[in-house]
Formats: sequence, structure tokens, C-alpha cells
Amino acid sequence: MAPVRDPNTQSNYDQWRTKHTTANFKVDFAAKCLRGSVIIELQSQTDKASKEIVLDSSFVDVSSIKLNSAPSQWEVRERTGPSGSPVHVAVPEGAGKGEVVKLEIDLATTDKCTALQWLTPAQTSNKKAPFMFSQCQAIHARSIFPCQDTPDVKSTYSFIIRSPQVVIASGVPVPDATEDAGEEKVYKFEQKVPIPAYLFALASGDIASAPIGRCSCVATGPNELEASQWELQDDMDKFLDAAEKIVFPYRWGEYNVLVLPPSFPYGGMENPIFTFATPTIISGDRQNIDVIAHELAHSWSGNLVTNCSWEHFWLNEGWTVYLERRILASIHKNDAYFDFSAIIGWKHLEEAVEEYGKDHEYTKLCISHKGIDPDDAFSSVPYEKGFHFIYSLDRLVGRENFDKFIPHYFGKWANKSLDSYEFKATFLDFFSAPEYASLKDKLAEIDWEGRFYNPGLPPKPEFNTSLVDVCFELANKWKQKDFSPSSSDTSSWTGNQVLVFLNVVQNFEEPLTVEQSRNMGKVYGLIDTKNVELKSAYYQIAMKAKDTSSYPGVAELLGNVGRMKFVRTLFRTLTKVDRDLALKTFEKNRDFYHPICRMLVEKDLGLGEVKSA
Ligand code: BES
Ligand code: ZN
Repeated sequence: MAPVRDPNTQSNYDQWRTKHTTANFKVDFAAKCLRGSVIIELQSQTDKASKEIVLDSSFVDVSSIKLNSAPSQWEVRERTGPSGSPVHVAVPEGAGKGEVVKLEIDLATTDKCTALQWLTPAQTSNKKAPFMFSQCQAIHARSIFPCQDTPDVKSTYSFIIRSPQVVIASGVPVPDATEDAGEEKVYKFEQKVPIPAYLFALASGDIASAPIGRCSCVATGPNELEASQWELQDDMDKFLDAAEKIVFPYRWGEYNVLVLPPSFPYGGMENPIFTFATPTIISGDRQNIDVIAHELAHSWSGNLVTNCSWEHFWLNEGWTVYLERRILASIHKNDAYFDFSAIIGWKHLEEAVEEYGKDHEYTKLCISHKGIDPDDAFSSVPYEKGFHFIYSLDRLVGRENFDKFIPHYFGKWANKSLDSYEFKATFLDFFSAPEYASLKDKLAEIDWEGRFYNPGLPPKPEFNTSLVDVCFELANKWKQKDFSPSSSDTSSWTGNQVLVFLNVVQNFEEPLTVEQSRNMGKVYGLIDTKNVELKSAYYQIAMKAKDTSSYPGVAELLGNVGRMKFVRTLFRTLTKVDRDLALKTFEKNRDFYHPICRMLVEKDLGLGEVKSA
């Protein structure tokens, strides 16, 4: 039997595969933990060859494990690096090929759990109730319960969750199943489409919801509900229509969005049934909802068709960025929007390559993950290099042909996981059909190995710059020290156009003067904007200009948003211009940040080693 192909799991999933998981948890806000049991049904892949099951775990307090309802021999072994502590359970008799065994694991999460954040009522916007939420991608599910924490294994799920607050999960609510149990209620959900462990998700708190589309609602704190509904209700069905037309009909039933408290560490997380999203997308101008087009697109790329390990993460994110851009171009009925977003993405890619160095392993499309924490390798590279690879194949075969390949690929791999070579084989096989004979020579020229393993930037295509030309022109004017700006320079622009302009100015060889920078903030309304995307881009310019009057604003923003995209880039610059303030600001907000964000900022600031010493 082939060895497992995911280096970030210690589970022996070549021997056993999870088929169904039942999570039976009480949300204990007082103790800030989940406690209860998981029942994992595993199917033997061999004929009695394996006498033990190995699962991943990380900082979980396991109290008992039953095998087929009887006590078992089990142990949680010592931690080995980022993979955590493997749990070994003896199966003395083994099991015949295809036979299913049942593990019932009693457990509680601990205060070292990296997947969960617990907020006190005081840390929520209406201060009325505590709140908790999970973030399992990439390898944090194992810190909630022992499991085969690899995207190469998919399981159906039942959720039975007891909480005094409303519960949301990555499954479909079971109608009328909510039971009263004193102060608490029991919420039940089913996920009948098999999903990898990283898509397991829970949230609980004072949550209200409102409709935003034909199969969609938005859920969030009662104070935020109206604004969240307004932000999303115009586009939700348009996104869904566009996506279904490009790929095929949505297969999950509902598509809902949970808008989380500001410490949510990502822009969005594609948890099935309920995308989790940062409140920074509720900017009051509908300018940041591309994130929802992106997370919706994951319903096909990632959630149905999944990378088999984090080494092939580009298959999830590159495809998703490609679909996101197709969706945006389709709803604007203008292909320039595809290029517009691609130009912004290219800039992010250049920055990432520059930050790592052009020969760095993390600038490859396929990144070796042996002994590596996937959170450390996370960057724009798999997104944008992945996008450019898919987009280059689209251009190579032509849009009409590529549009036929899209549903073929997602249909063939639905409910499965794959690696880059299986993607290659699927692509070449599809286009080897007689009707594509004229493409033969072009296909033979694709440098697959180079695309997968060359570090640095991929070939840059020609972009349609019609939407960015004005942004470049305005940026050019700012190179003249005596340029006098007016609010009408940008008042009719989209948020993304302003962002492109700010990105260009950020990269000026010579920073703006303090006066120029202040003037820009004032005249273009960037200091008071509610749009965090713009505000943080502006603060980058202000800090590079050494405008010390902007630093308190930076520190304040760092106490109000926990989305890593902003937090990490702001800290990286702040620590260069005022290390003292950076350290103070981090200490002050340590409890506000999600554990994953806290850990990564600690590393970015060079504090990681100090803490663990
Ligand atoms: N799946 C990712 C978030 C993620 C990736 C979490 C890896 C943990 C590990 C999500 O779909 C995503 O890409 N979010 C982006 C949105 C953006 C590209 C529109 C984000 O958070 O910024
Ligand atoms: Zn994504």
C-alpha cells in the first residue's frame, strides 16, 4: 500500500478511512472549552493488516476511548513539532477489508486549543453574551478532537451541540430538532456531503439572522444585522447564478454567511453551509464583497474538489481565485473586472516574492510541507501563482474550450481529493479527445514541472488596464511634490481603484513627504474611512513617510481588527518605524487576537523564541 501523501498528518489513513463523524459537544462558556465526545466510524482499507488506528491530536484532553463500545488500549503520544500528538488506539483483532469500526472518544478542549476563540460578553459588540468560534484550516481541527486531520480524507458529519447561545455549524440544521435542555438548547446539524476535517466549523453566541438570497441568510450580532443584510442582499443571488453557470448547480443546499466579531483572523473561511467572514467586509459601501464571491467559489473548488495535502494548496486557492474573477467579470458584464482584480493580485504576488526572496521554497506553486506548519507557508503565492497557472491554461486552449473543461474537472473530482499530477492528467486527458486535435502541439509545450517547482514569479500576461490606467495616472501626479489634490480625484472611483492607486504610491522609490502624506489622508478621506482595506493601505504610506501623527491611528486600528491580512502587514511596518509602539500595541491586544494570529504576529515580531524559552 502506498504511503500517505500528506506530510502534515500522523494518521495511518492508508489503513483506515473515516466515513462518518458524530460530534457531541457542550459549549462550556464558563470553562472556555468544548466537552463531550466524538464518534468516529473508520473503514478498514486492508484485510486485517493493521492492528492500530492512529489519529492526529493537538492539546486535546482525552479521557477515554472505546472501540466498538468496549474499553480499548489507547495512548496519546508525545508531541512532534507542528503535527501535534498522535493518538494510538489498538485494534487487537484488526478488521477485514471494508469492515467499519467505531471509536468513541471522550474529551475536552484545553486552553492551548489553537482552533477556538472564546470572547467574554465584554469583548462582544452588544456586551450581552459570550461568543465562541472555530477556525480549523489548515491543521487546527485536531486541536478540537482527535481525527484524521488531512484533506485527503472526507467524512460525513452529525453535529449535536448543546449551548446556552445560538449555534451555527458547517452542516444543515435538522428541522425542528432543537431541544430545550434547561438553560441550554441542543442544536442538531447534518453534513451529508463528505468533507475534510478542516471544514468542520462551529460558532455560538448572541446571533440573529436575516435573508439575503434565495437560499441564503446572513447571521451576525443583532446590532450588526441590518448593515450586514444591506451589504450582501443585492449581490448574493447574482454571485450564485454566475458561479452555477460557470461550473454546475450548487450542491450543498443552503449558502449562508456568518459575520463574526472583528478578531476573526481571515477575510473569509469557506465553511460549508456557513461561510465565516470578517466584519471588515461590512464597510457600508458594498466594496469588499469580492470575499463572498471567493468563499462561494470554494463550494466547488476546495469543498467539493479538494487538495489532497497542503503541498497542493494552489489547487484550492488558485482555482478559487480564478472562479472568483470569472464571477466578478460576469456580474459586471465587463471582462476588464477580471483583469482589474488580476492586476491587484499580481501586485500581491510580487510583494510576497520580494518578501521571501525569489528562490525561496514558499514561492513555488507546490511547496514541500515536511516538518512545516502550513500556517507558516501561507501567503499570496498559492492564490496568485495558482490563478496564473489556471489562467494560462485557459488562454492556451481558448475560453470556449476551457469552459467545457471546468464542469468536467469539478464533476470528475467531486467528493474526492487530488494532487497536482492528477490535475495534470485530468487536463491532458480531457484535451486528448479528437475534437481538440489542433491543440496537440500547444499542449505538449506546457512545462508542468517548471510550473509546479520553479520558484519566483511566473510569466506575466498582458492585462487589460482600462480600469487601472486612471489610478496609475493619478499616482504619477503624486510624484510631483507640488501636486495639489482634490477630493474629486477619487470620489467617483470604486474602492479597488483607490486601492490600486494607494498600492502604486506605497511602492514609490522615494516615499511621500510628511505633508504630502497628511494631505492625501485628509483630502481623499482615508483617515476617517470605514473601509479598513483603504485605511490600512493608507497607513502603509503614512508610516513609510514617517508621519508620526499617523502612528496612534495605526495602533488604534490594530486594536479594532484581527484580520491577519491587515494586522500582520501593519505590524511589519510599524515595527520598522516604531518598534516600541509595535510591541506595546501587541501586548495590549494580545487577548483580542485569535490564537493563530497571536502566534504568527509573535513570530513576525521575533517574539516567538522568547516566549517558549
Ligand atoms: N480558505 C481561505 C482562508 C484560509 C486559508 C484559512 C488557509 C486558513 C488557512 C479563504 O478562502 C481565503 O482565501 N480567504 C481570503 C479571502 C480573499 C482571497 C478574497 C482572506 O482571508 O483574505
Ligand atoms: Zn480561499
